[in-house]
Amino acid sequence: MTRTRAADHTGGQLHNGLAARFEEAFGTVPDGVWQAPGRVNLIGEHTDYNEGFVLPFAIDKTAKVAIRLRDDSTVRLLSTYGEQGVVEADLAELTPGSGKGWSKYPLGVAWALQQRNITVPGFELLLDSDVPLGAGLSSSHAIECAVISALNELTGAGLAAEDMVLATQQGENGFVGAPTGIMDQSASLRGSKGKAVFLDCRDQSVQLVPFDAEAAGLVLLVIDTKVSHSHADGGYASRRASCELGARLMGVPALRDLAVEQLDDAARVLDDVTFRRVRHVVTENARVLETVEQLAAGGAGSIGGLLDASHVSMRDDFEISCPELDLAVDTARTNGAIGARMTGGGFGGSAIALTPAGLEQQVRDAVERSFAEAGYTAPDIFTVTPAAGASRLA
Ligand code: GLA
Repeated sequence: MTRTRAADHTGGQLHNGLAARFEEAFGTVPDGVWQAPGRVNLIGEHTDYNEGFVLPFAIDKTAKVAIRLRDDSTVRLLSTYGEQGVVEADLAELTPGSGKGWSKYPLGVAWALQQRNITVPGFELLLDSDVPLGAGLSSSHAIECAVISALNELTGAGLAAEDMVLATQQGENGFVGAPTGIMDQSASLRGSKGKAVFLDCRDQSVQLVPFDAEAAGLVLLVIDTKVSHSHADGGYASRRASCELGARLMGVPALRDLAVEQLDDAARVLDDVTFRRVRHVVTENARVLETVEQLAAGGAGSIGGLLDASHVSMRDDFEISCPELDLAVDTARTNGAIGARMTGGGFGGSAIALTPAGLEQQVRDAVERSFAEAGYTAPDIFTVTPAAGASRLA
């Protein structure tokens, strides 16, 4: 178990700032500071738990945690979110479903490590995150990935990135109660500057694919609709159940194993709703593969149509969009974006719009205006580029 002072590492001012705040809060220096990013998904939605393909990237918005291991099993958690005070828990008594608010995520990670017979001592933790909460940018996974990176190193567990991905998924599924897949944590842990993470969710193999919007004269806008969602609510789970039913009725291990050409058969076998859920996943997998090909052949400027088709499929077949997301997508498209879609699990959160740099302001203004006219909460609009994955900062 390493016990190095955070100040012994070459952290920048900011990280030393978090370490200093930790010391103020807990009266002792942290063992270190780790960061992990949120993500946007370029394409490949609800394909991960169907053992399919996804193409997300890590963004330059991150969760940072300063952590110090303790000698007992007490966990003390504090954030700069500005709520509550210190949340305390005992690692010897963790039960799935316990923990309030964001504290569920670090506790879920500790619980998942325990399930893997990794001894996790108690710890003090200070969280600071600029990944917007509930915006479909994986704020929860950013926290989990920062925490697991820290605990993996500090306990000497020696987990590879692939194992950390599965452990955080176990924490989300078994402790937090959200039946999510492996996309978000893979982007956060395995992301790389300038690259999208082309992930095969069946075997976790990754190919880093250059994504350079700027080179194509474009920007990737994120439009946070401010409609918040939770994957622990019923919508996500019911989509997942439909996919599992569809695979079973079609006699395949996972929807990944159905080709677009088999959709006619599927239409004969499945009820209408299950068929449309299946059609989304099958065609979305094909779109991911095509996006990867198009990016290599023609760069970011050649994938607009695929983003549009993905949105239509999510809106009409998978039915996980909402009026705010549709308005953001439609307004961005009619004002110059070359492609747009909702990103993430759906039922709220954010859309992405691939937009010529010269039209960025026009698209922003138009989306803001349309939201105001519709009486919706003002959206938050910003650009993202692929950033590095999780790392130790200090
Ligand atoms: C959420 C989940 C992911 C994935 C997406 C939909 O972000 O955490 O595992 O299923 O929704 O693509």
